Amino acid sequence: MLSIERNSLEQLASLLLERVGLKITPDGYYGLRLALQARMPVLGLTDAAEYVGNLRQRAGEQELRSLIPLVTVGKTEFFRDTRQFHAFERSVFPQVMDQGRAEGRQVKLWSAGCATGEEPYSLSMVALERNGTPETVDVLATDLNPVATESAGNGFFPARRLVGVSEERISRFFQPVDGGYRVAPAVRNLIRFEGHNLASPVWPQVLARSLDVIFCRNVIIYFDQPTIVGVMERFYESLRPGGWMFLGYSESLFKISTRFEMVEVGGTFAYQRPMSAARKPAPVTTVRRPSQPFVPPVPRSATDVESVLRDLKRKAREREEAQAKKEVAQPKSEPAPAAPPSIQLPLRTPVERLAEVIDSIERGDFPKALRTAHSLADDEPEDLAARLTLGNVHALMGNLDEARDAYQLALSREPLCVEARLYLALAAMQVGQLDEARQELTRALFLEPTLAVGHYLLGQVNERRRDLDGSLRAYRNAIAQRKQPKHDLIGHFPDLPRSNEAIAQAAQYRLAALSER
Ligand SMILES: C[S@@+](CC[C@H](N)C(=O)[O-])C[C@H]1O[C@@H](n2cnc3c(N)ncnc32)[C@H](O)[C@@H]1O
Repeated sequence: MLSIERNSLEQLASLLLERVGLKITPDGYYGLRLALQARMPVLGLTDAAEYVGNLRQRAGEQELRSLIPLVTVGKTEFFRDTRQFHAFERSVFPQVMDQGRAEGRQVKLWSAGCATGEEPYSLSMVALERNGTPETVDVLATDLNPVATESAGNGFFPARRLVGVSEERISRFFQPVDGGYRVAPAVRNLIRFEGHNLASPVWPQVLARSLDVIFCRNVIIYFDQPTIVGVMERFYESLRPGGWMFLGYSESLFKISTRFEMVEVGGTFAYQRPMSAARKPAPVTTVRRPSQPFVPPVPRSATDVESVLRDLKRKAREREEAQAKKEVAQPKSEPAPAAPPSIQLPLRTPVERLAEVIDSIERGDFPKALRTAHSLADDEPEDLAARLTLGNVHALMGNLDEARDAYQLALSREPLCVEARLYLALAAMQVGQLDEARQELTRALFLEPTLAVGHYLLGQVNERRRDLDGSLRAYRNAIAQRKQPKHDLIGHFPDLPRSNEAIAQAAQYRLAALSER
């Protein structure tokens, strides 16, 4: 029998705040309980106080890394990411239903990493609204954490967790019970909850080419690259040709897999297993990107935006050159005033709009960067890159409160966002709040120990705090990351050294300068 006292939950919450900046209020203690119930038996512990005590030891760091993804199990909601659900509801689900009906088979959906069940229940509600029945639709809902799937299977939710569910859906799909709501049997009946580890190399529960749609959102962010590559390979094999996959908003297959096609559907992006060459995909209201099969929805890396930016700049340059040629050919009586070399294209996608913000930042036109970043962040509230870049523009203009607000908003969407920690540290450095900067960098480095720029900035902060040993250590750590894969930062901050080589050189320079003192 596990003993989990409130006191241990409070201590764990304060440890998570200190180490990774995760803010867990008493409202979220149920998530902590779930995580403890999953991890304590693995270590053979029954007393939460002992478990938390172990976490505080140096050797507890590894365990803390295993615990964190489970803690964020609380971070799920019904109909999370409305755009994706609209796309699913209006385009993808009707299409796969038509196909299933035509082939006389059940449509199979999978919520992989389903946490406490909000995602598969949302899928089930959409299916019922579109006349799905247990005979025609099957929703597999799996999670690594057996306590989460057990809680999900109970189908009970306190009222506050129904945020995002319309009144109409509440009255149709939920039954009020003591202390909250229980999902109606019809919603529960479409779903099979099971334990499953996505990272394991074989998936006996899932047959090859059996699935129509996979939702695997906000799960792979916790995996390292080789694990993600393996998971994506197995997802690919499990999908029918033409089958769909939705990832979390800040997750992409950039540099991970080229086997899926990226398709714009209903204002968002989804991945699709291509049909065999002989068969064309059934028509859906989608826009395909012919020359760029692989444009991530939100760039996890700056590279995507940079390539769009380069492209836009090239086009702007070509237009200027064409204009200049025209003027030479037909000299005007009055020379036109020289226009600043800015990008003035009809911008469509969030990536292009972000590229415009970066272009304005690089030209030093901060007011324009701010306007564009603001409207982008308003239009795309879940776009982390937009939100973080908006914060950075504010920081560059000296509006530090607004910058911090933007970073905090990013953290409220993505509590383990390393970049938000890094940029918060930069903002703190800007106003000489060195303790805060140090704390934020320590958090960023806990989440991403190979973040070379984090080590380098920590070296700078320690120098300014006159902590010579600390700065030497941090610069050496920065140099040690030289051979690590580069961590592409979400959000743009000008003049941050980006390659690990450049960072190592800068750190080496600082080490040499310090040793001369
Ligand atoms: C943040 S929740 C995401 C919930 C839901 N998909 C959503 O987007 O709202 C992440 C879930 O991934 C699960 N998870 C983490 N590692 C996993 C693994 N190796 N296999 C399966 N699930 C895993 C966690 O237990 C947690 O429930």
